[in-house]
Amino acid sequence: MVQLFHIYKQYDRESTALSDINLRFEKGEFVFVTGPSGAGKTTLLKLIFREELPSRGQILVAGRNIAMIQLHKLFRLRRNIGVVFQDFRLLKRRTVLENIAFALQVVGCPARLQKQRAFSVLKMVGLQHKMQSYPLQLSGGEQQRVAIARALVNEPPILLADEPTGNLDPELSQEIMRLFSDINAHGTTVVVATHNREIIRSMGKRTVTLERGRLVEDSHHSTEAP
Ligand SMILES: Nc1ncnc2c1ncn2[C@@H]1O[C@H](COP(=O)(O)OP(=O)(O)O)[C@@H](O)[C@H]1O
Ligand SMILES: [Mg+2]
Repeated sequence: MVQLFHIYKQYDRESTALSDINLRFEKGEFVFVTGPSGAGKTTLLKLIFREELPSRGQILVAGRNIAMIQLHKLFRLRRNIGVVFQDFRLLKRRTVLENIAFALQVVGCPARLQKQRAFSVLKMVGLQHKMQSYPLQLSGGEQQRVAIARALVNEPPILLADEPTGNLDPELSQEIMRLFSDINAHGTTVVVATHNREIIRSMGKRTVTLERGRLVEDSHHSTEAP
């Protein structure tokens, strides 16, 4: 589903954000990407979504080299990838419901279905009572759940989430993880970047560890060893 071949990312001359990363995420897999702050987790997700281009190396998503996709066709890649950004990126002047409906509008979902589907996904994250609120009227944790709902509303085959529990208390974090598990059980490939070891331990999923831009551990492969 997602393959990275010898990926390097350098934002500037001094520092290398990612160095010779080789990875493969299978369809339907649930993977954590972890490591200390500055290890390259966010960069890795941004490369898969083509928000950034690698300095070297190749990335295939569903078999396609994403560097070769023309700009006007990028929406197709992004329709297939739901993203929960670390900083949410909600539209301040639109209500919670409108924020989610907008994600459906941009991919051409019929107007009459937009609010209906937006509402049902809001219910999933337990925020239906906030549908008429504006993002800035919500707590950090609530904004995070709106961002998650928006990423899920298209039912994308791939979900990328960057520190999705960063602003949530432990109980809500577990709830969000259960939600991701459910979505994963329905076939979505889920990649979660987090430095929260507690969450990772509780889930028992494949965990890829980065340190200073290098892949230092992949639990998936170590458990497969004899
Ligand atoms: N836009 C950017 N410009 C320059 N350096 C960046 C940029 N984004 C990230 N970096 C650097 O790349 C490295 C990896 O960052 P990041 O991917 O955000 O790590 P993480 O998400 O694991 O904390 C860090 O050293 C960071 O300072
Ligand atoms: Mg990060």
